[in-house]
Amino acid sequence: MYYPEELVEEVRVRNDIVDVVSGYVRLQKKGANHWGCCPFHNEKTPSFAVNGAKQMYHCFGCGAGGNVYTFVMNYENYTFPEAVKMLAARAGVSLPEAEYDEEQKQRQNHRQQLLDVNREAATFFYYQLRSPQGQVGYRYLADRELSDETMRKFGLGYAGRSGAGLIRHLKQKGFEDRLIIEAGLGSHNERTGLVSPFWNRVMYPIQDIHNRVIGFGGRVMGEGEPKYLNSQETPVFDKRRNLYGLNFARTARSGNIILCEGYMDVIALHQAGFTQAVASLGTAFTAEQAVLLKRYTDKVLLAYDSDGAGVKAALRGIGILREAGLSGKIINMQPCKDPDEFIKKNGRDAFQERIDQAENSFFFEIRMLERGFDLKDPESKTLFYREIAKKLCSFSVDVERENYLEAVADKYHIGFENLRRLVGSYAMQTGVDKPPERPRSGVRQKNSPQENSRRTQRLLLTWIVDDPALYPRIARYVAAEDFTEELYRQVAERLFRDLEAGRYQPAAIVSMFQDEEEQRQVAEIFNTNLPRLETRQEREKALHDILYAVKKNSYEHLTASLGSDVTALSRAVAGKKALEELAKTHISLE
Ligand code: GTP
Ligand code: MN
Repeated sequence: MYYPEELVEEVRVRNDIVDVVSGYVRLQKKGANHWGCCPFHNEKTPSFAVNGAKQMYHCFGCGAGGNVYTFVMNYENYTFPEAVKMLAARAGVSLPEAEYDEEQKQRQNHRQQLLDVNREAATFFYYQLRSPQGQVGYRYLADRELSDETMRKFGLGYAGRSGAGLIRHLKQKGFEDRLIIEAGLGSHNERTGLVSPFWNRVMYPIQDIHNRVIGFGGRVMGEGEPKYLNSQETPVFDKRRNLYGLNFARTARSGNIILCEGYMDVIALHQAGFTQAVASLGTAFTAEQAVLLKRYTDKVLLAYDSDGAGVKAALRGIGILREAGLSGKIINMQPCKDPDEFIKKNGRDAFQERIDQAENSFFFEIRMLERGFDLKDPESKTLFYREIAKKLCSFSVDVERENYLEAVADKYHIGFENLRRLVGSYAMQTGVDKPPERPRSGVRQKNSPQENSRRTQRLLLTWIVDDPALYPRIARYVAAEDFTEELYRQVAERLFRDLEAGRYQPAAIVSMFQDEEEQRQVAEIFNTNLPRLETRQEREKALHDILYAVKKNSYEHLTASLGSDVTALSRAVAGKKALEELAKTHISLE
């Protein structure tokens, strides 16, 4: 659906960004900004700033930023039209009914098209599973003890006997080859034309938290390579930022989330009533997924395979969870291989018992560590204790370290004072772990000349947005063309035009850009750290320097690109004159 700009703007204005963000993030007012912990990366001290006057947000830690639309798109994983719809509903603005004429369809944005083609493919697979030729798939799933209800809940399907049926169906529904290929649902084959890589497999649609199909996993029925064929990443399918089953698990309200390795584990657990189970998407668990989980829980139970690879993955996962500030526990699956098998053999009550007995991640780590030592050998035993001391040093909170010290000393019959001395001496040698310092954007780093020039251009734009009254004083020295960075030039053009007409709506400028990355950059432009200067003289000098630098860069840029173009030459001459004049001019901030 395409919405006219005025409507988009009305919806934006009616949704105060501080109000909207407060619904998701706890904010505290300090100075001009409201501050909170950034929901887009993991942090313990707030560097996420929401500015009511500018109606924008910007994270000084990870660089996320934009206006209220950008926020909703990123947080809720919405497309732009979906964000408009949600915010319109929130503010009680009525939107025109969707009318899908050809032209609007073309404008409908790219992400939406990918979601549409995925949805259609999922529907196709779903009906195939229930058709005569899909019986083989249905039987496979039923043999794995999945009920019809479970198959429906997860939208399971069958890909068809060949890779041609899906393509025929999608084309008939009006999807173009280009889109089918981009979605990973088809590829060109010299001999047969466009065919789907998915054939003769049972299909698991992968949904995001809003139940939209973003990709697929296809499993061979029985033995075969590869066992799972997963969709490639696309603009709507980011494997690092989604989790299989989270669309259901987010509302399970069980007080924890169970993280598994496989799709089948998730499905089996849900069928047994553990609707809080999720799995990563055929790749290792990521920090982004931990941040995502943190929105819904602070307790994660790992239900990884009990084999060597599973243990290794669990140890890695524990570290990631800890970094994200989540408490992790490990569910013991022995003697079974994975949750799917465990549930089948032992049933739901036995699994619930395993949940209740889940092992604290620190003890799990120590227990795994122990396997590498021979505790009957005094030397090896000492080394083991040293490793324990080293691990204890990684707790930066004193109380926490003391508690674990006590517990582990007790469990392994190590004298408490002895172990503490060991920890002490280890800490003396290396220093107790401190979280690594993240370079903040206020800290000046050595930058390339290009980055310096971009930074100066940003500073000038931020200054103008922070103090729009400045614009009339400098308007005669600076023009949109002086911004050599294309995005900055577009922003300046619109900003200056608005200011000349007496309008001040910086957040509307963000909406000019469809691309989230561009929106982020626009927010960054308007939120560069300005130098903190005490006196008016200092500020006047700083402004003059910035203005001069922008102008000089623009002039150099122009002369460097001078060809035989006569107008460019005359512009360069004018530019040189303006520069000389500016050097002599005093701009008053009085
Ligand atoms: P079942 O064997 O059907 O029980 O599957 P599972 O879900 O238990 O999978 P398994 O534990 O073997 O693997 C865990 C996850 O790794 C799967 O859910 C897939 O996401 C992924 N995976 C497994 N095999 C492959 C493969 O051959 N290729 C890719 N890309 N991913 C795989
Ligand atoms: Mn399995």
